[in-house]
Amino acid sequence: MNILHIDSSILGDHSASRQLSRSVVEAYQANHADSRVTYRDLASEALSHFSPATLAAAGTPVEGRDAAQQQEVATNEATLQQFLDSDVVVIGAPMYNFTIPTQLKAWIDRIAVAGRTFRYTEAGPEGLCGDKKVIIVSTAGGLHAGQPSAVGHEEYLKLLFGFIGVTDLHFVRAEGLAYGEAPRADALAAAQQHIEQKLFAA
Ligand SMILES: Cc1cc2nc3c(=O)[nH]c(=O)nc-3n(C[C@H](O)[C@H](O)[C@H](O)COP(=O)(O)O)c2cc1C
Repeated sequence: MNILHIDSSILGDHSASRQLSRSVVEAYQANHADSRVTYRDLASEALSHFSPATLAAAGTPVEGRDAAQQQEVATNEATLQQFLDSDVVVIGAPMYNFTIPTQLKAWIDRIAVAGRTFRYTEAGPEGLCGDKKVIIVSTAGGLHAGQPSAVGHEEYLKLLFGFIGVTDLHFVRAEGLAYGEAPRADALAAAQQHIEQKLFAA
């Protein structure tokens, strides 16, 4: 059982999503003795923005790539392969400016790859990642679940992972974190309880 654990918060030790994503992974390990964890911190080791250079590197034949292009292609392939090799993906996904952190978007740009994680057929797009379980740790300062303001955050992540074929998608949510000390503590405790009592119950 390969677990890919991803964090994207820029708030370091003050991060709620880092605390909760770690709890999810620990709970998963407690339930699955055979699990191996690969950790990726997208904030401290950020991928570059998807850019003209990214596309040019991929589009240049192997023998014509310069050193920077070789590095770019190798990083992208390793990032994609790490995702493909995983059975369970745990993603810390805070809301920043009504969407996910730019570092997490850069990672998604490397794993949403035609022919590898989805493909187009005559019947339309087909996701190729139906074998994976994805657990999103969703944190926000305000309250957004079920609201239009969730469109660029949880709703976007549902759309994206659905598009690449993930049906086993779970959210661990802690929101209202900016509403004061007590609401923050309550939200974190409720999320922790969800992890311990509900996440692996099904
Ligand atoms: C740059 C930045 C932008 C933010 N934008 C939003 C926002 O649009 N909506 C919201 O509800 N909270 C917003 N927040 C609050 C975070 O969602 C909240 O602090 C949450 O705990 C972030 O998760 P983290 O602690 O794991 O980083 C923002 C925080 C930061 C640092």
